[in-house]
Amino acid sequence: MSETLTGLHRTMMCGEVGSEYIGKEVTLMGWVQRRRDHGGLIFIDLRDRTGLVQVVFDPESGTDAFAKAERVRNEYVLAMVGTVRPRPEGQNNPNLATGEIEVYISELRVLATAKTPPFYIEDRVDVDELLRLKHRYLDLRRPAMQANLMLRHKVAFAMRDYLNRNGFLEIETPILGKSTPEGARDYLVPSRVHPGEFYALPQSPQLYKQLLMVSGFDKYFQIARCFRDEDLRADRQPEFTQLDLEMSFIDEETIQTLMEGMVAEIFEKTLGVTIPTPFKRLTWHEAMETYGSDKPDLRFDIPLVDVADVVIDSNFKVFADTAKKGGRVKGINAKGCARYSRREIDALTAYVAIYGAKGLAWAKVTENGLESSITKFFTEEQLAALCERMQGEPGDLLMFVADKPQVVADALGHLRCEIAKREELIDPAEFNFAWVTEFPLLEWSEEENRYTAMHHPFTCPMLEDVQYLESEPGRVRARAYDMVLNGIELGGGSIRIHSMELQEQMLGCLGFTKERAHENFGFLLDAFEYGVPPHGGMAFGLDRMIMLMTGAESIRDVIAFPKTQSASCMLTQAPGEVADKQLEELSIRVSMQAKAGKQK
Ligand code: AMO
Ligand code: AMP
Repeated sequence: MSETLTGLHRTMMCGEVGSEYIGKEVTLMGWVQRRRDHGGLIFIDLRDRTGLVQVVFDPESGTDAFAKAERVRNEYVLAMVGTVRPRPEGQNNPNLATGEIEVYISELRVLATAKTPPFYIEDRVDVDELLRLKHRYLDLRRPAMQANLMLRHKVAFAMRDYLNRNGFLEIETPILGKSTPEGARDYLVPSRVHPGEFYALPQSPQLYKQLLMVSGFDKYFQIARCFRDEDLRADRQPEFTQLDLEMSFIDEETIQTLMEGMVAEIFEKTLGVTIPTPFKRLTWHEAMETYGSDKPDLRFDIPLVDVADVVIDSNFKVFADTAKKGGRVKGINAKGCARYSRREIDALTAYVAIYGAKGLAWAKVTENGLESSITKFFTEEQLAALCERMQGEPGDLLMFVADKPQVVADALGHLRCEIAKREELIDPAEFNFAWVTEFPLLEWSEEENRYTAMHHPFTCPMLEDVQYLESEPGRVRARAYDMVLNGIELGGGSIRIHSMELQEQMLGCLGFTKERAHENFGFLLDAFEYGVPPHGGMAFGLDRMIMLMTGAESIRDVIAFPKTQSASCMLTQAPGEVADKQLEELSIRVSMQAKAGKQK
């Protein structure tokens, strides 16, 4: 039977009971982490989100507390009154904030009993993630998960504080909106009142925040939920949270400086980590050529080195032909990795194949020059030049890929990270920030056979490139910037187009006729006719930021109730079927195929 709380008031949290309270009476409440019977005494570690405290029950105490404590099990919820006393000589626990004291209990109430949980409520236990998600309320009791969500709160709080001090207003925008083309797939919500019509959940507040600029709210932010129906990965959820912001009358430099300041302040306040500013800035072109990625991990120094000019006249056909056809021949130097076995190199070859590389040529640097099965295709001079270009020293392993620029970038970009991981070149405590700028405005989509916006259709082209919009769209650079942390895209944004003519021209490049542009984005184009300030902004992935700050492996570990890889909720079993009556009201009929697919 559960007892009531009547008359008891918690005086402090479990983790707060320090030696300064010795001799004082305290009232504590929490969950049983562990109960131990010891020579007539019963010890319980009582837990709440601030930590553990040891409480003691003594049959000699003259109350019924001991008798009740004998029946207590893990995860029971207890309230108790007791006196703080020092632990006996030699019994201190230096690993615990409350490790110098214990609480001698005079009154105990069992507020709730508990079944044996399906897994231990402890960190470092190997539990299947699906089981954790099914019992998320128990999983969230684990100290690491509590720490993650508490940090998340602190970060959100620090963001609001910083932005408020800098003159930003927090404004909410709708969740039920209009489906617009471009971007990821929308989540749709059927309208009952307008049969056959749908709202779309926002992929981001992008258009609303631009309209707020037109309205004169010149510094806006929102901690906004975004919804994207895309393939999920460790750092992607179907619904996720952005710190979204927008400013008027600014340029790239203003916003980047302000955001560096915000990130540095958040890290200082919440982790006590000092982040040097300004961040390194590299253009998209530099990032792709040197690191093979538009979100390069700069915590280790393994650049991609172009060797096309060195090998163009060699007899190694793969290299020479690729170089002549204008492809890329590049290599990386894995310092000290000449010790790798044939089998390890084969594994790396298989690894780059994932990214489309047709092979991985390699050479070991020895005291006598390069050693490899392909040296026979090169002259002595070519080998020496290759070694020098790669800054090869005895003991190094040089690896090369020849292919189209995108394949070389992808393959070697991933390979440099793989080598860094294998060689443990990464300091896990380092936070390495950078800006990547001057992204291409458009990218060619083979699938759609047209140009699509690399960022989104409202991003402003660089002024000196506008002249190429019609003639060479692929050449136009955007006034876009991403903030990258440890090889992950933390946030992205841009200066926006603020002229209706340019916006129409941009939509034209994306294949919209004037009519269709107005059909889809008319509200924005109309607004642009009533005095729109130059503006720009960005959005941070809050989940990703917390993941990187906590060192979590997945953003699921920093979201209270996340979805699985297949976008379902293990806890509530969402998505689920609904009653026929609900469908009827929405004028929706589920196709027989969909039903049959489910039964399979
Ligand atoms: P973008 O699409 O680059 O920009 O998104 C901004 C940031 O949001 C995070 N993010 C995600 N996090 C978790 N799961 C996802 N599925 C997911 N998708 C994106 C990333 C990313 O950097 N409106 C523009 C911003 C702007 O231009 O101001 C936008 O949404 O960290
Ligand atoms: P092959 O001539 O196919 O036997 O290949 C000789 C070596 O070159 C092998 O180590 C291959 O992995 C490598 N190789 C083949 N194609 C490429 C390529 N496109 N880029 C880099 N190395 C390659």
